[in-house]
Amino acid sequence: MGRIKPRYLLKCIKCEAIKPHDENLYCCSVCGGLFMPERDEAFIKQQIGFGTESQMYFDSIRYGRLAQRYPYGSGVFMWLKYILPGFPEKAVLSLKEGLTDLFEPPRWLKRQIGLNRLYIKMEGQSPSESFKDRGMPVAVSEARRLQLECPELGISAVACASTGDTSASAAAYAAYYRDVLRSIVFLPFEKISPGQLAQAMMYGALVVAIKHRDGFDGCMRLIKEFCAKNPSMVLVNSANAFRLIGQETIALEIFQDLRWKAPRWISIPVGNGGNLTALLLSCLRARDHGLIDRLPGIIVAQAKNTNTLVRWARSGFTKYEPGKFHDTIASAMNIQDPVSFPRIKRLYDCFEILYYDVDDRQIQETRARFNRAGADICPQGSVAVSAVLQARDDRRSLQNEVVVAVSTASGLKFIDSAIDHHLNGSRKRFANPYRVVENASLEKIEQAVKSAL
Ligand code: F0G
Repeated sequence: MGRIKPRYLLKCIKCEAIKPHDENLYCCSVCGGLFMPERDEAFIKQQIGFGTESQMYFDSIRYGRLAQRYPYGSGVFMWLKYILPGFPEKAVLSLKEGLTDLFEPPRWLKRQIGLNRLYIKMEGQSPSESFKDRGMPVAVSEARRLQLECPELGISAVACASTGDTSASAAAYAAYYRDVLRSIVFLPFEKISPGQLAQAMMYGALVVAIKHRDGFDGCMRLIKEFCAKNPSMVLVNSANAFRLIGQETIALEIFQDLRWKAPRWISIPVGNGGNLTALLLSCLRARDHGLIDRLPGIIVAQAKNTNTLVRWARSGFTKYEPGKFHDTIASAMNIQDPVSFPRIKRLYDCFEILYYDVDDRQIQETRARFNRAGADICPQGSVAVSAVLQARDDRRSLQNEVVVAVSTASGLKFIDSAIDHHLNGSRKRFANPYRVVENASLEKIEQAVKSAL
């Protein structure tokens, strides 16, 4: 049996060179530019139809019998024929990622904050507890395809630099193929959360903690050089366009959950810009396939200490100046020089985009406020939600518009900052410290409970 023909390609954004399917490249070998994915859209339309027809096709996969058949029960691979037509199923690795909740905050909270139609996309509900589990299975599946179809390349490992979630995800997916594929992760020393560090070690990655004054950005430069020198390594950072392809499914899932109506706004936390690129790409494609009838507006949310894109927007899109490394509570998005910036520059002006940055105090308060309402949002998710709150102050219309904020990871990856908010120092807004009862008796406990209620 011959190979099925790939109906996708990666094209260099600078010189338009096309990546050969049988080479291990994350960037263009001619000019070093990043790749952007392109699909044979006419072929896809032929296969799955257009507009209502394609909506029905995806609804039938998700809610029908095919959902029982590997890998179609995955929130990533149920879209396989649309995101990566012609990719060999035998190379696909799914851990049943995606299909995360679109959480609707309780009415009391929506009333308090004056946002009647806010939803939060709970991306912490995937296998390694972050949104990285959408792009990573695609990148790891591609690494596996290279092993199967191009053994002469000698692919032996996937490698990445990370602020903690990419590494956890790479380690989790590679773990499944441990007998044939290892994972190597470069982490900025003591700059990622203990939970994320533990994940990479638990899943068996080779973990290298790097002391570098530029934090993640320094690790990123080093891993690129490392992979260039070691061609048996597949770089699985979002510089690798296969990551973007899987990441496109967050937007698709949001549209499907909203019965194929685009929300008015989608707010996402932006670090390296991979997720933003995938979101923009996915919205444009969904519109062109008639899955939605208009583009959502985008809210680009960054932490104050790492707000390169916000400053770029404030300069009227004339000055792009990566800042210096500073800590932020939203450590997973602490990136000064977003790798995908050249991609974003090609896409951003098709959209209405609002740019906001959020300080650490606001990140903590919003997180605690939403946790109290049952939403397990992480500090980065809090940046997205806080940006929505800022946008609401600027535009009254948001009050009754459908807004989706993406919470990119589970809160339990970031317990240090939660404990700090609830227990340490002076009492903070929405803090909920525990009470200690010494020499316990039921009476004393009752006293403590009553005085606290
Ligand atoms: N939120 C979380 C929880 C993240 O881990 C990241 C990035 C972002 C938001 C920003 O997304 O980079 O696509 O703009 N984490 C990366 C990592 C860089 O190594 O885990 P982005």
